[in-house]
Amino acid sequence: MNSDISAVLFDERELKKRICELGTELSKAYFDKNPVLICILKGSVVFLSDLMRHITVPIEIDFIRISSYDASTKSSGVITLKMDVKTNIENRHVVIVEDIIDTGLSIVFLREHLSSFKPESIVVCALLDKPEAHLVDIDIEFKGFEIGNEFVVGYGLDFDEKYRNLPFIGILKKEVYIEPQ
Ligand code: PRP
Repeated sequence: MNSDISAVLFDERELKKRICELGTELSKAYFDKNPVLICILKGSVVFLSDLMRHITVPIEIDFIRISSYDASTKSSGVITLKMDVKTNIENRHVVIVEDIIDTGLSIVFLREHLSSFKPESIVVCALLDKPEAHLVDIDIEFKGFEIGNEFVVGYGLDFDEKYRNLPFIGILKKEVYIEPQ
């Protein structure tokens, strides 16, 4: 697996430091709000699992599964809801926990979908953001790192379901996903 990676973008130490900071920020912002952290499956599961252990105030968690990518590195642009939240989030404070924001279309879909349950508030906490790839204007209230347009894998992020279990975030070699001409 590691031989498919051209460079490590964030190693385990850098990820832990930034996620600890995000946990502190969220703990301050939500100390009396008992927020529901909604993990966007599958990619965000590793991020949620580390982030929640750096939050020192009461929280609840739930999961939602959407999909915008098939076995490709480009968003299809069509978001499909594959599994919905189970928690009643009416009048609750919601934190959407995302591993990566690319086009931003998933966040637009999620904010609209979750708003239909009438929560008190919705914010986004994203580990990675690719501003150059945005196709829509979006607000990201809590952000780990901004990155360029490289295709990254590891720490939950996949290509064709592989590499999610890498403990770091790395850039995938182009030859892994680009067919030779
Ligand atoms: C990825 C990622 C985000 C979304 C971001 O999920 O986890 O949810 O794409 O892309 P966007 O900003 O262009 O909408 P994916 O559909 O690959 O599913 P996965 O989390 O199961 O890998």
